[in-house]
Amino acid sequence: MKYRKLGPYQASAISYGDMPLAIEGRPDRATAIGVIHDVLDAGVTHIDTAWAYYPSGEVPQYGEKLAAEALHSWHGDQSKVTIATKVGHFRNFTDGKPTWGIDDDPEHLKARAHESADALGVDTIDLLYSHRPSPDVPYEKVIGALADLVDEEVAATVGISNADPEQIRLAHRILGEKLVAVQNQFSPGFTSSEPEIEVTGELGLAFVAWSPLGGYRAALDQERFEPFQKVADARGISRAQVILAWELSKGPHVIPIPGSHRSATILDSLKAADLELTADELAALG
Ligand SMILES: NC(=O)c1ccc[n+]([C@@H]2O[C@H](COP(=O)([O-])OP(=O)(O)OC[C@H]3O[C@@H](n4cnc5c(N)ncnc54)[C@H](OP(=O)(O)O)[C@@H]3O)[C@@H](O)[C@H]2O)c1
Repeated sequence: MKYRKLGPYQASAISYGDMPLAIEGRPDRATAIGVIHDVLDAGVTHIDTAWAYYPSGEVPQYGEKLAAEALHSWHGDQSKVTIATKVGHFRNFTDGKPTWGIDDDPEHLKARAHESADALGVDTIDLLYSHRPSPDVPYEKVIGALADLVDEEVAATVGISNADPEQIRLAHRILGEKLVAVQNQFSPGFTSSEPEIEVTGELGLAFVAWSPLGGYRAALDQERFEPFQKVADARGISRAQVILAWELSKGPHVIPIPGSHRSATILDSLKAADLELTADELAALG
């Protein structure tokens, strides 16, 4: 495994997001704990979760409690592992289908952050994100709540998620060194976040790439993924490894967080940290 800077932490270049282990379609709890143990054994030092990782209609914070239970029952050096979480989303139903609501009321964000610390079993959360800007709350107020949470030592560092370049610059102006990461969607099928990769690089922030393999819930744009499959076939490795290595090549501050329902897929993906694509391969991938 190789490591990259995530504020004061050394994050595995390929890190892990536990959403598929926590929401609709999740495996049983023992299997999920086993997946996280396998990931930690393989050298992952950064697990991403969220207050809102639970199935709609069920008890919140399943993903946070899962990450904490897995870490605390792991035999390795727990002090090297960063658990990042997010507040601001909650699960809902729209027309009977599970959806994600946003509640960015600053007082609610602070209350959720305290609940997150409790679920993670810590006094101070390593890295706490605002999960998503709300059209109903001025972003300055969301960022102000994050600043207060660092001052109150509820969070050691903070990040923002699903933010555009203007929001990133605003957060950086208000938070200064407290802000260490931006977590946005990025994959071969979702490249519109390239400006955010650029601005995070310029500001010295980590860019944490969510759904880096295209996500498991949406159909992939096969045409866009085809060049990655070609490189993978030529090398005799998985397409996932090629995608993740391409993402790492976008900058030394990029940290993809693939998810999985099982160990086999994520353990394969982690090999991307040591995969160097050639200049010709990268040119073909765009
Ligand atoms: N900040 C946000 O708003 C936000 C939103 C969405 C997600 N996230 C974060 O991003 C993380 C990852 O996103 P995601 O889980 O939606 O999507 P993803 O990582 O793009 O894709 C996960 C899927 O990829 C498959 N996979 C992983 N490695 C593979 C391999 N080597 N070969 C073949 N298939 C492989 C998994 O298969 P199996 O299911 O078969 O294991 C799973 O179905 C989440 O867990 C969460 O932490 C954040």
